[in-house]
Amino acid sequence: MATSYTCLSLRFLSVAAITLTIAILLPSCKTPEELAIDKRDQVFVAGGNDKKTKKPGTSGGTASYQSVDRGWNPSVSAPRGGTGNKLSYSRVSVSEPYVAMTFDDGPHPVNTPRLLDILKARNIKATFYVVGTNATSYPHILRRMIAEGHEIGNHTKTHAYLTKISAAAVRSEMGFTHRAIVQATGVPPKTMRPPYGATNSGLRTRIKQEFGYPSIMWAVDPQDWKRPGSQVVANRIVSATTKGAIILAHDIHAPTITAMPNALDRLLAKGYKFVTVTQLIALGEGGAE
Ligand code: NI
Repeated sequence: MATSYTCLSLRFLSVAAITLTIAILLPSCKTPEELAIDKRDQVFVAGGNDKKTKKPGTSGGTASYQSVDRGWNPSVSAPRGGTGNKLSYSRVSVSEPYVAMTFDDGPHPVNTPRLLDILKARNIKATFYVVGTNATSYPHILRRMIAEGHEIGNHTKTHAYLTKISAAAVRSEMGFTHRAIVQATGVPPKTMRPPYGATNSGLRTRIKQEFGYPSIMWAVDPQDWKRPGSQVVANRIVSATTKGAIILAHDIHAPTITAMPNALDRLLAKGYKFVTVTQLIALGEGGAE
């Protein structure tokens, strides 16, 4: 019996030791790059939104800390709300390096507010294509978006595959989210993005006729929903962006948010100026209607 008790005790101790080891190892599961980005982001958020208060070398970070070099997005006075005369846009022909950052599928109760802090600190105005069911769950986040100068677009009620459902179902999907956005913010959406990018010319025509929305596609897709890692997402965005681009990302994924300070700061450093989708359309050659 004594031997059995000893065995049991030893087993218990082994399990306890393994559990403790896992607990110790877990926080270091992130790659050094991810940890660096997290640290940069934390330093950044803690530093508030005045870039002038922080000087290089005072962050307490390593020599690779870059956020202190970020630019401050210039306020662009282009008009909002114009939807142009095209049925669809993936980019806009512009003379200046304007780009539009877009975020789909939210709002998310944690990730979206975190993103809004990152955008606010850089004076970047983005466009959010919200899913109706999320919009009704978190109307206060929609109100914050509008209060901070962002634009909200329609991404259907349930993230529906619009090319696979009836015209009546499309109307219902779009109508629900249109009303949800108006109810939350008082500001009607002016553009839509088809979930999965699934659309066709008939659908684009009908959506423009019934809702007045152009269908907004994208020129830059970092495939962030596949979660390739924050550094990869940032690199893909920076390397693929050219002037007039509409950039796609998703504010429901935490690693995407983590990628943003790096991606946005590098684009700002290259001279890009961020505007909303309807501003980009207005800034296009010929301007909005
Ligand atoms: Ni989507």
